[in-house]
Amino acid sequence: MTDATAQSSDVIVRGARRSDVPALLSIMAQPGVIRGTTVMPGAGELAVEAALAAPDRHWLIAAAAADDRALGYVYLDWGHGRWRRIASLVMAVHDAAVGRGIGRQLLDAAIGVGFQYLDLQRIELEVYVDNAAAIRLYERAGFVREGTKRRNAIRDGVHVDGHVMALLKPLAAAATAAAPAPPAAAYTDQAHLLSHSYGATDDYQIRSAGWDRYRVGPVSLVPWVLDKLPLGEPLALLDAGCGLGRFALAAAERAPRGSAITAIDLSRAMIDAVSAEARRRGLAIDATVGSLEELPYTAGTFDAVLCNYVLYHVESIPRAIDELARVLRPGGLLVAMVPAFRWLHELIDWQDRALLRLGHDPGSPLLGPTGTDRCCEENAPRHLARRFRVIARDRHDGTMRFPSVDELVHHYRHTMRFRNAVAAGVDGDRLADSVRELMAETLARGEELRVTSLGTCFVCRKEA
Ligand SMILES: CC(C)(COP(=O)(O)OP(=O)(O)OC[C@H]1O[C@@H](n2cnc3c(N)ncnc32)[C@H](O)[C@@H]1OP(=O)(O)O)[C@@H](O)C(=O)NCCC(=O)NCCS
Ligand SMILES: C[S@@+](CC[C@H](N)C(=O)[O-])C[C@H]1O[C@@H](n2cnc3c(N)ncnc32)[C@H](O)[C@@H]1O
Repeated sequence: MTDATAQSSDVIVRGARRSDVPALLSIMAQPGVIRGTTVMPGAGELAVEAALAAPDRHWLIAAAAADDRALGYVYLDWGHGRWRRIASLVMAVHDAAVGRGIGRQLLDAAIGVGFQYLDLQRIELEVYVDNAAAIRLYERAGFVREGTKRRNAIRDGVHVDGHVMALLKPLAAAATAAAPAPPAAAYTDQAHLLSHSYGATDDYQIRSAGWDRYRVGPVSLVPWVLDKLPLGEPLALLDAGCGLGRFALAAAERAPRGSAITAIDLSRAMIDAVSAEARRRGLAIDATVGSLEELPYTAGTFDAVLCNYVLYHVESIPRAIDELARVLRPGGLLVAMVPAFRWLHELIDWQDRALLRLGHDPGSPLLGPTGTDRCCEENAPRHLARRFRVIARDRHDGTMRFPSVDELVHHYRHTMRFRNAVAAGVDGDRLADSVRELMAETLARGEELRVTSLGTCFVCRKEA
């Protein structure tokens, strides 16, 4: 979901921000909202902040297009173990804004995220039996009343009954060969990235190991990038979008005493892995979960910031660039690796051709852009110019050559392109078999199993 996901001219649905807390408190203080939900009267700032930060919960905010003020919210809480792929939904709209279709917009957006990105099978909720507007809204969206819980929750001094309602993902749609198309946001939507690519470490671990093991050229990326930092002096360094921390860990090893190394990433799993590896190596790294678009550091904290292979993932590149500049001291350095437009293009081609062989529509978004179009070598200078002066650029060739189809298929099955196809309903085994065939044909033609991996390192100074 991007900020541009406008569904009516005056209201947009977007992700939640810390700055929404006052408006959310105001919504939660509305008599209609207290009556319709289980919000505690007098809910305070800390409770709302904690609710926003709750793990395994995804918030969407309906905000006025004119001033971005939150008018309503919805969130999904998803379960684990045998409750995985089941989520409960809670929503509310400011009393002054009801009846304008905002509830419907929020509900549609939450259902979209739930089914298309969290791969839910069931979205459930509880609603007071006399909440006619909410029941109408849910029924119109396809929720079915499954039963009534007696004395379900206290409202205004008495226990009130509540209906249990649920919406199931249509099974036929989930099983169909014609996969639902992944929206262009598959490479930027945070819930999707966490569900299908970065929420666990194994995919990225296997891909990173492949970059090292199969690289053809002599230049190892991490030391090559670190050479661009002023590591002769103690420095405060941030690795933004650190992943498994290959840059932060190496910097912590190389930086002189008195340096402070900080790392941040959207993914809790990545941050836990960085912290564990730092502990194992006896290194001090302050690692935190958070987004580039809202960095939890005061202005001017860092002498240098690394941001490698991340910018094409953020929802708003300008906002991320502003944030990276804000946390740098005046004159500080940003060092950012940005992929070539056709990064890893052989892998993309093999998959896209396999999808065509399997009968997918050539116009399917599954064969669409790979995300690198948003921030690659060609347009990164324009993005960076917003706050930075590029003082050097240098290309790195990390092209890989695989010795066998098996090793290449293993690597391929951990790529985002593959994960996104599977997330959209494509049968992963069939797809991988078809890709394997194409790779074998490449070998049979006497060609090598090469995957081109080019990227440019931009060294930028913060403009005063
Ligand atoms: C329920 C709530 C989320 C709906 O938000 P909203 O922005 O008003 O919703 P919409 O305008 O998209 O749609 C509301 C629907 O209910 C209908 N509705 C409104 N009042 C109604 C009533 N008294 N009886 C029956 N239907 C009613 C509207 O006509 C509309 O349906 P329609 O489009 O078919 O005409 C909102 O009223 C709210 O936040 N209430 C307080 C908190 C709450 O009850 N949350 C739900 C907890 S389960
Ligand atoms: C391709 S990896 C790069 C990791 C690391 N910089 C490296 O080069 O090894 C992209 C990382 O960016 C993280 N990420 C994506 N969007 C982000 C955001 N908005 N804020 C912070 N991190 C983000 C992902 O969780 C993932 O770990």
